[in-house]
Amino acid sequence: MSGTIPSAASLYQRVQRVIPRVEWAAFSDDVEAILALKRERNAVILAHNYRTPEIFHCVADIVGDSLALARKAMTVDADMIVLAGVHFMAETAKLLNPDKTVLIPDLGAGCSLADSIAANDVRLMRQRYPGVPVVTYVNTSAAVKAESDICCTSGNALAVVESLGGERVIMLPYEYLARNIAAQTSVEIIAWNGHCEVHERFTPADIRELRDAYPGVTVLAHPECPPEVVAVADFAGSTVAMSDFVGRHKPARVVLMTECSMSDNVAIEHPDVEFVRPCNLCPHMKRITLANIRTALQETRHIVTIDARVVDGARRAVERMLAV
Ligand code: 13P
Ligand code: SF4
Repeated sequence: MSGTIPSAASLYQRVQRVIPRVEWAAFSDDVEAILALKRERNAVILAHNYRTPEIFHCVADIVGDSLALARKAMTVDADMIVLAGVHFMAETAKLLNPDKTVLIPDLGAGCSLADSIAANDVRLMRQRYPGVPVVTYVNTSAAVKAESDICCTSGNALAVVESLGGERVIMLPYEYLARNIAAQTSVEIIAWNGHCEVHERFTPADIRELRDAYPGVTVLAHPECPPEVVAVADFAGSTVAMSDFVGRHKPARVVLMTECSMSDNVAIEHPDVEFVRPCNLCPHMKRITLANIRTALQETRHIVTIDARVVDGARRAVERMLAV
């Protein structure tokens, strides 16, 4: 890596709209240390859109939704990848970069959705619906991916389902994503009952109240929200699709029905848009902090490994998705 390392003071300019100066004082030392460590260790940081702004805007090299992170993980030119996201994202980065050291700063950064299903559940679904292809959301363990035909993300789920060319698919593990996709296709979708603890809590009543309190507000919902919420939103799409929508349409007022940090990160890019901010916090995403990213780089921890028995199957399912 070359070029001068930006100072913490210059980086503060990027985030001053959402981080008060007094809070920044607690971040600047870690930001400077992380920028120096990245260079020393030839490391890059991949950060999901739900990262807090001091990570997303100040130390990350690659940012995006789950699909973008998976795609961009393949193009990384570094010895080490630090995944500022949750465990399944780090596993996906490792699947696509078997020769690189992939680190997750906190092993407890899991996902309620990934925890809702095990490899044996997929085998049971196959027995119950013989011959029906299995599409698995990337928010799953490598062991579950290995039992699947193909993966999908919220950004490509419809395209993946339709790429299979059949009349039926099993779509695991998120019930609401499966129902939201079923509403857009003639392919019959057989769902599982896994849920995201962040998005399942949004309700149509929330949207009604927001529209009453903030006249004219444009409501964008993540496809992990319940179908009744998506039905009354103005637009539904992945985290990147929501961000692109704001850039393209420049609504005067917008609300993002998704994890809290999204609004902060998108608001920084669009100072002319007013963000209404009811949101639900993902406790798993929030386990990743500047402090544990710094420790991860200093101490090379925690190294992500994937069981040799599932690695080839899981990689095949992810690569098949990326080819769609
Ligand atoms: P996307 O960023 O792919 O839309 O996913 C949202 C999510 O919940 C990731 O955990
Ligand atoms: Fe999992 Fe939901 Fe958190 Fe995403 S937001 S990591 S799906 S619990």
